[in-house]
Amino acid sequence: MTTTTPSTPEQRDDHRPSVHPGPSTPRWPRGARTIRYGGDYNPEQWPEAVWREDVALMRDAGVDLVSLGIFSWVLLEPRPGQYDFRGMDAVMDLLGDAGVDVDLGTPTAAPPAWLWDRYPDEHPVTRDGVVLGRGSRGLLSPSGPGYRAAAAAVTEQLAARYAGHPALAMWHVHNEYGAPISESYDVHSVRAFRAWLAERYGSVEALNAAWGTTFWGQRYADWAEVDAPRTAATTVNQAQRLDFARFTSDALLACYTAERDVIRQYTPDLAVTTNFMATNCPSLDYWKWAREVDVVANDHYLAAERTDNHVLLSMDADLTRSLAGGRPWMLMEHSTSAVNWQPRNLAKRPGELGRNSLAHLGRGADAVMFFQFRASRTGAEKFHSAMLPHAGADSRVWREVVGLGADLGRLAEVRDSRVPARVAVLWDWESSWAQDLEWRPSVDLRHRERTEAWYAALWRRGVTIDFRHPSHDLSAYDLVVAPASYLLRAQDGAALTRYVDGGGHLVVSFGSGLVDEHDAVHPGGFPGPLADVLGLRVEEFLPFRDGETGTLASGGTGRFWADDVVLEGAVPVDVFVDGRAAGQPAVTRNDRGTGSAWYVSTALDDGTLDAFVGDVLVAAGIAGDLLPEGVETVERVGEDTRWRFLFNHGDGAVELPDGLAAGTDVLGVLDDHGDVRVLPPGAAAVLASEV
Ligand code: GAL
Repeated sequence: MTTTTPSTPEQRDDHRPSVHPGPSTPRWPRGARTIRYGGDYNPEQWPEAVWREDVALMRDAGVDLVSLGIFSWVLLEPRPGQYDFRGMDAVMDLLGDAGVDVDLGTPTAAPPAWLWDRYPDEHPVTRDGVVLGRGSRGLLSPSGPGYRAAAAAVTEQLAARYAGHPALAMWHVHNEYGAPISESYDVHSVRAFRAWLAERYGSVEALNAAWGTTFWGQRYADWAEVDAPRTAATTVNQAQRLDFARFTSDALLACYTAERDVIRQYTPDLAVTTNFMATNCPSLDYWKWAREVDVVANDHYLAAERTDNHVLLSMDADLTRSLAGGRPWMLMEHSTSAVNWQPRNLAKRPGELGRNSLAHLGRGADAVMFFQFRASRTGAEKFHSAMLPHAGADSRVWREVVGLGADLGRLAEVRDSRVPARVAVLWDWESSWAQDLEWRPSVDLRHRERTEAWYAALWRRGVTIDFRHPSHDLSAYDLVVAPASYLLRAQDGAALTRYVDGGGHLVVSFGSGLVDEHDAVHPGGFPGPLADVLGLRVEEFLPFRDGETGTLASGGTGRFWADDVVLEGAVPVDVFVDGRAAGQPAVTRNDRGTGSAWYVSTALDDGTLDAFVGDVLVAAGIAGDLLPEGVETVERVGEDTRWRFLFNHGDGAVELPDGLAAGTDVLGVLDDHGDVRVLPPGAAAVLASEV
């Protein structure tokens, strides 16, 4: 393989998101100015008579958008190059006549059997060398030329045929890239990985330097010697694995953009997107992906058994809005009740379907969609809930679906309003890819665990956050939280330092700033580019035994981790009084001008974390009292109106505290007792007031 001309450092660093997040060509589905309502629709599973019944039921429920054809490749192209659009034509016409718009899927997440037969060397291969077979769903090798050509061909046929169809409102490319196939170790992927590396590094020498291949004698003399980081005798070069993760996200993104660009030739004005899984897809760098979709669309499923799953829902919705750059986004899929793929598939209880939907709406969704409209009788997902369950229309779920449609109608004016936030929490997929590899100081050093802990503490105070990548412009925020930001580029650390020097407030948790973009320890040790702004150095990590804790001077406890800290300007705020870290600071503060930088060297228990977050919010000038337990609030703000969303996730009625109770109760769910307004258990309320 030949070496390409080295690109400039800026060009090579195209792995960084741009300064501002969000789609570079934003568009919304064509048509009605409503909160879009509907779901995946798979009529191919049913005889035509059922389609008519479906469409009548859709109208009863206020459904005005369905995602169609997502898994119908073999029906549209039963043999290579032979197309049959009769079924799709009939459904498109039926929906169009009924005023139900279509989010038309490209069917490339369900390759037909003939494609598998055609390209045996494009079958995906796992890290352990298992060659995956057909009979499920997914794709062939993301870098497979045969797969890509076939995907482009069927996409072109669809785009050409339906470009002018009155029902067509937008495009839904593929389905959930990254699941179930992400990394593939087939020959085409290895070849494409080498080309990607050549583009990034320019020369094998530069690759050797970046990957630190002198260690364990891994030096490469030629690109052809470089392999994907498949399972080996023991742990594999971590910089190599990090680059393969980056490559994989890019390879899948190229599959998406190829289909999108075919579509754009036929319908340049229609929105094209693909469905994300914001906090639940570990393998795609959605900051980069979000630039390439016209509207951010997200799928979210509750972790049914987690009692805090409503907090995780909010976190997922906030990340989705952040990916959208604050613009309205589409909740493309969630479930009316149980899913079928978790160990125990708990049904949602009465009211939960609507509460979940409005929680997404409150955090910026302007479309509420489900998987799927009618429950399947056959196939892998027959035990998955749907808008229309197996029990039929005479059922609680269907009545709630109809009720939700009516509620969304009452909330139509919320559309296009924004969700203001004064706090940013850093989120970086590259950092979590690196951090989750083997041979780290402790398995308890987890970005996800820390992010959830900090997010929940802010949620309990009703403080809305945006997620941001460390390279984004953070100057609009009063407070930035960096939870276990393991990989932090020197320039991003410098930007965080400037942010504090400009009057910002920064909280950094343990395990941050440890390595650079090549997973190499920063020169000068820990916490690398954050040492100066935090006013300290970490000489050594002090990870805890499983279950071990340390007592703090404040009376709280620290878990998982502590550091041997050398203070160089920072003052201790809380200190370990016993255990392996006795005498070491657990919390420090470093004031710089009107800004401040705080370091938290351990996982604080919830009560101590709550108190600490309260102190930091005061320092940053942000209001945020602890809310009654189980109560959630978030606000959307339009030109003349603000809508306060309130949720009671608990079992008891809650008197609304002053400051949260004002406004017109749009859905009429509060119990008013004189001056006191009560939020019933399980309720979702929206209070409208003038801006
Ligand atoms: C999603 C997927 C849907 C359906 C759903 C079930 O991840 O996009 O096609 O499988 O899960 O929960």
